[in-house]
Amino acid sequence: MNQITVIGSISTDFVVTTDILPSIGETVSGLDFNQSFGGKGANQAVAAVRLGGQVTMVGAVGDDVFGDQLIANLDNNGISTVNVERVTHVPSGSAIITLHQNDNAIIYVAGANNLISTIGSEEIAAVIKQSEIVILQNEIPQGQIDWILETANRLDVPVLYNPAPARQVKQELMDKVTYFTPNESEFSLIFKGLSLSEGLHRYPNKLLVTLGSKGVIYFDGKEEVLVPAYHVQPVDTTGAGDTFNGAFAVAVTKGLALKDSVRFGNLAASLSIQKFGAQGGMPTIEEMKGSKDYEEAWDFE
Ligand code: RIB
Ligand code: NA
Repeated sequence: MNQITVIGSISTDFVVTTDILPSIGETVSGLDFNQSFGGKGANQAVAAVRLGGQVTMVGAVGDDVFGDQLIANLDNNGISTVNVERVTHVPSGSAIITLHQNDNAIIYVAGANNLISTIGSEEIAAVIKQSEIVILQNEIPQGQIDWILETANRLDVPVLYNPAPARQVKQELMDKVTYFTPNESEFSLIFKGLSLSEGLHRYPNKLLVTLGSKGVIYFDGKEEVLVPAYHVQPVDTTGAGDTFNGAFAVAVTKGLALKDSVRFGNLAASLSIQKFGAQGGMPTIEEMKGSKDYEEAWDFE
């Protein structure tokens, strides 16, 4: 038990830093290029394991050099990769990331992430059953998300669903989700026509909208609670949401109250954006404790 199961994408990030954005048909000179580890699923798994979670990853990589590196990275971080499969004839997942003035633009190519063949099997149902929480994102096919939500619900396992990138969510699915964590733009796309306040009131203690440098907002049944972000000078905000989700899941499984769990997630995210790369700055629990903003109320174990 105490297992956090992350089902989702594992990708290589190809990151270009530039101060000029090209238009279609144009060539510009960029400033820097780096290859780093990413994929929203893998990122959330790494965030959780660094903070003391016991994490199992369910996913797929291709039969290429990137696949080797992606699995080694998960192993090196102490994540169980028993349920990460290798598929042939498709490349490992990748993301082409442009960093421009403290912001990013991403082209995600799913590759192997669209071909996790074990989802739907008894084997993965058993992994879900052993979990204290299951974490999902939208970088795998919707049909698989539907099955995971059905299965987790039937087995009474809580689900943290980070709907990124955004796509439509059926109302029945919302009933099966324990925590739903879109950012502001994902919220607007998913709940077309609903104001933020209307959405929050519809899903008390379930819908947590991440507002970047403003923090995270939810409705606790009585009032809207805005948990402010910790203000830092960002180096690279890629993966900030993933860090929040992984850290939040650890805090929840350790028994912290919702608001404390959100604060814990916020601090982890603020530390993560001070270093390059989605996983680059994700803090260990020791690094969290070393922060001036760490709160004793968060002590677990
Ligand atoms: O959330 C950030 C991640 O999303 C990146 O690491 C990249 O892989 C993208 O798909
Ligand atoms: Na970072």
